[in-house]
Amino acid sequence: MNDVLHHNLNYKKYVIDPRLQYFKPHSIKIVKSFSDEICHGINRDSKYILPKFFYDKKGSNLFEQICALHEYYPTRIEISILKKIQHELHSLLDDSYRLVELGSGSSVKTRLILDVFESICDKIEYFPIDISEILTESSEFLLNDYRYLSITGIIDTYEGGLEFIKHYDDRKNLIIFLGSSFGNFSPSEGAKFLKKISSTMKKGDLFLIGLDLVKPKHILENAYNDSQGVTAKFNLNVLSRINDELDADFDLTNFQHYAIYNEKDHRIEMYLKSLVNQSVIIAKSNILVNLSKNELIHTEYSHKYKITQIENLLDVAGFKIKKMWTDDDKFFSLTLAAKK
Ligand SMILES: C[S@@+](CC[C@H](N)C(=O)[O-])C[C@H]1O[C@@H](n2cnc3c(N)ncnc32)[C@H](O)[C@@H]1O
Repeated sequence: MNDVLHHNLNYKKYVIDPRLQYFKPHSIKIVKSFSDEICHGINRDSKYILPKFFYDKKGSNLFEQICALHEYYPTRIEISILKKIQHELHSLLDDSYRLVELGSGSSVKTRLILDVFESICDKIEYFPIDISEILTESSEFLLNDYRYLSITGIIDTYEGGLEFIKHYDDRKNLIIFLGSSFGNFSPSEGAKFLKKISSTMKKGDLFLIGLDLVKPKHILENAYNDSQGVTAKFNLNVLSRINDELDADFDLTNFQHYAIYNEKDHRIEMYLKSLVNQSVIIAKSNILVNLSKNELIHTEYSHKYKITQIENLLDVAGFKIKKMWTDDDKFFSLTLAAKK
C-alpha cells in the first residue's frame, strides 16, 4: 500500500461533485480527542482550553462577526496589504502551483489570492484545511464565483492537513497561513509548528504568513475587548460547546471574558474568569471541575511580533524570506518564504 492510500485511510472521503471533495477524520476519533483534550486542560490547577475548540459552527460565525468590527484592525489591514501585493504575487507564481490554506475559515481573504491564480492558471486547485465545518460552506461560495476552481477540503487540524498534503502528490504548493492565527501557538509550540511546515514543503513550494505586529497596548486591548461584546460571546461560546458536546453544566452567567496585553511577552492573553466558587460536571469526560472565585481558564494567546523576530523565527525553522510587506503604520505583516 503506498503512502497516499495508507494516510487517506485515516479519513472518510466525501465527493460532492467533480469540483468538490472533502476529507474528514473518522468521527469517533474527533469526539474522543475533544473529550480527552478538554479533560487534560481543565482537570488541573492551571486550567486551559485550547483555542482550536472555539470553532464550532456558532464560534466560527462569531469569529466572522469579530472580523467585521472596527476595533478588530487585523482583518481590515491584512486585506489592504493583500490587495497591494497582488501584482507582485502574480510575478512570483506560475501555473504549476496549487493553493493550500491553513485555517481557511470563511476563505474571504483567499479570494484575493485566487484572483491572482485566476489570471495565471486555466484550472485552479485549492486545498483549504480547517478544523471547522465552516470550510464546507465557504467552499460552496467559492465554487459559485470561480468557474475554473476545484476544491479538496481537509476538515482536520493544521498538523493533520499538513501530513495529508505531504503525502498527496508532487505538485508545487503555495501554503498560506493568514489572520495571525500562528500567534495562537505558545513560542515553543510555534517554533515546532513552523519546522513542521518547512519539513512538509518541497523545493519550489512557497509559504505566505500573515502576522500581527507589536503596537500600543490600548489598540491591542480594544481589539480584544470590543464595545459590542462579540469577542466576549466568542470566548464564552466554548463553554456552551462543552455543555452541548460533552454533556457538561457550565453556567455561562458565572463566567466573564477577560483579555489583557502582556507587554513583556508581547501577547494578548484571553481567559474565562470564574465569578464565583463553583463545581461543574463534564459528564462525558467523567470529571468534576472545581473553580474558585476569580480563577482563570486560559483560552487563547495572540502573540504580536517585531519584524526582526519574524525574520529570526522563519530562519530558525528552515525558511529563507523572499519578501516581506507591511501597511504604512506597520500594524500587520505578510511574509513570503521558501524552504532553505
Ligand atoms: C483566527 S481564524 C482565521 C481565519 C482566516 N484565515 C482569517 O484570516 O480570517 C482561525 C481559523 O483556523 C481554524 N483553526 C483554528 N485552530 C485550528 C487548528 N488547530 N487546526 C485547524 N484549523 C484550526 C479555525 O476554525 C478558523 O477558521
